[in-house]
Amino acid sequence: MKLPDILIAVISNLCPPATQKGNFKFAKSKAIRIMKLSFVHYLTSLCLLGALCCTSTEEELDVEPAIDQHTYADPNRAVTTHLDLEIEANFETRVLTGKASYLIQATSDAADIILDINQLTIDSIFVHRERGMEEVSFQIGETKQFMGAPLTIPIDSLVTRIDLYYQTDPAASALQWLEPKQTYDKTHPFLFTQGQAILTRTWIPCQDGPGIRFTYNAIVKVPPSLLALMSASNPTSRNDEGIYHFEMTQPIPAYLMALAIGSLEFAPLGERTGVYAEPGLLEASAYEFADMEKMLLAAEKLYGPYLWDRYDLIVLPPSFPFGGMENPRLTFATPTIIAGDRSLTALVAHELAHSWSGNLVTNATWEDFWLNEGFTNYFERRIMEDLYGKEYTDMLWLLGFQDLQSTIEDLGPDHPDTHLKLQLGGRDPDDGMTDIAYEKGSLLLRTLEEQVGRETFDAFLMNYFEEFKFKSISTDAWIAYATRYLLKPNKLKFDLDRWIHGPGIPEGAAIPESSRLRNVDQRLQEFVRIGRLDASQGNRWSTHEWLHFLRHLPRDLHVSFYEKLDDVFDLSASGNSEILAVWLEISIESGYLENHNKQILENFLTTVGRRKFLTPLYKALLNHNQINLAKEIFQKARSNYHSVAANSIADLIETSTEVG
Ligand code: BES
Ligand code: ZN
Repeated sequence: MKLPDILIAVISNLCPPATQKGNFKFAKSKAIRIMKLSFVHYLTSLCLLGALCCTSTEEELDVEPAIDQHTYADPNRAVTTHLDLEIEANFETRVLTGKASYLIQATSDAADIILDINQLTIDSIFVHRERGMEEVSFQIGETKQFMGAPLTIPIDSLVTRIDLYYQTDPAASALQWLEPKQTYDKTHPFLFTQGQAILTRTWIPCQDGPGIRFTYNAIVKVPPSLLALMSASNPTSRNDEGIYHFEMTQPIPAYLMALAIGSLEFAPLGERTGVYAEPGLLEASAYEFADMEKMLLAAEKLYGPYLWDRYDLIVLPPSFPFGGMENPRLTFATPTIIAGDRSLTALVAHELAHSWSGNLVTNATWEDFWLNEGFTNYFERRIMEDLYGKEYTDMLWLLGFQDLQSTIEDLGPDHPDTHLKLQLGGRDPDDGMTDIAYEKGSLLLRTLEEQVGRETFDAFLMNYFEEFKFKSISTDAWIAYATRYLLKPNKLKFDLDRWIHGPGIPEGAAIPESSRLRNVDQRLQEFVRIGRLDASQGNRWSTHEWLHFLRHLPRDLHVSFYEKLDDVFDLSASGNSEILAVWLEISIESGYLENHNKQILENFLTTVGRRKFLTPLYKALLNHNQINLAKEIFQKARSNYHSVAANSIADLIETSTEVG
């Protein structure tokens, strides 16, 4: 071997593939040290090679590497790069059983590799070397609240692969096993996973930090009447064996591992897009999401090519705890966005936008969550503006701004959780995931756009996605990047630090305005003054205009005002979940509930598990002397909620009982 070949071998041995750049700072600096010492005259070419091979984001931008406090893994020493998963789903026992086999890369002195586990039973572990495989004894450390435990597996420099045989717990937090009656068609059981933020470790042993990426293949065995889908290449129809093969060739962080199993059918929407739903809901779903392909094209036009092949969406049962979840290639969505009029599809634009902000360029730790959600919220609105125009999108911006104001009011104007960069040490990352990341984050980008102009800002974002694709980025690295490539070249004096490390809404923010919602304000004043709201006017309103009206409707009017609204616009029977949710909140807060739609409230809270709707409704009950009703409904509803929603509501009720 010639000298350069040896160097390349040394580097490629110590450095991961380009996509793993960030994980191997240690190995990289070690390689560079060796090279500097021994082969001085090859230095120039080596630096180039080093830059190509494994220069980390932090080093390039001269910032400290991010430390993720929510994983036990130490990827700088030993990291998983590829997963082969083989699991079987047993709906009787509510257990997934199988094998997780990882390719690993480690520094030569690493004596073990650490994975995250929570509520898992590990049966046995084998390590592979070139000359064969061997069972090893492993250690499980102390289990901590929400973190789970470190699983330490002994390795040496010859180990290339580890096999873990394991099973999940019937109460695994990521999994929701549903009875047929909890689904739309009520004919078959259903299972879905929710990995974000740190729940994947409850269904797969893994290095569960957003800064660690791996590719995966999976084989999933399910009862033959059901179809399995993952955040990967997917089948479009059932087979009689019940065995499905999946491939995810782009490296992703563990929180984007996802699985759904149910009686599902597929309808194509465009060349690269389609929708999966239970048979009874497929037609309505295909109608609702008809613009998906257009959204994909608009997104690519804005910020560069879609790098995940297909973009499909699955409509889950109503207990899904979120509006949507951006699992790569297959967005998971709540059925509550099927309004029949395509009025709630900003959510699709949002999850699609995550294919760039979040899935391609990922927050380094959960303290940098705003880099996922703030960018996605901004991107979502740019897609919506492209498809439906500025007037429409101004309404989304203003409603979002109102959410931001009320979150700041709830948290308190100086609360550290109103900073973009969060402090989550010792806390469940879920606690920091508020509207601040979404709305203050996107407001920052909107303000920057306003200052430098759209063209310049779009070029900056396009480069950002290209530069950091398949990598993670910390807030500090983003500040350094934005300072270097946006603020300096445009000679912009902008206090990024105030936005990111300070509370509330900074001065100079580009406050949203909406002419359509201003018109609603006038109609509202008139209604409150003289009790008149023109039926033809209200019937022309979009969902967003109605939401604005209802949010601002005083809660202390005479009951006849609410009755009138209900008579004319049939709000208690609204098939639009967003409108119904606010209307029910108003009903509780105004006392209208007493004689009117208690049953509707109970039906809603026992069938829908979307946390965004549950939290304000339970809060309203608790704050308006309805603690017993809240408890009574929660008792009936709890088994229909996914653990992340159930835990939030249980906390709410507990705190208010303690205070009360
Ligand atoms: N990634 C989030 C959902 C999430 C956040 C799951 C934090 C777990 C922890 C998803 O992209 C999202 O933001 N969903 C929103 C919809 C959106 C239109 C704002 C939701 O579920 O409401
Ligand atoms: Zn999101």
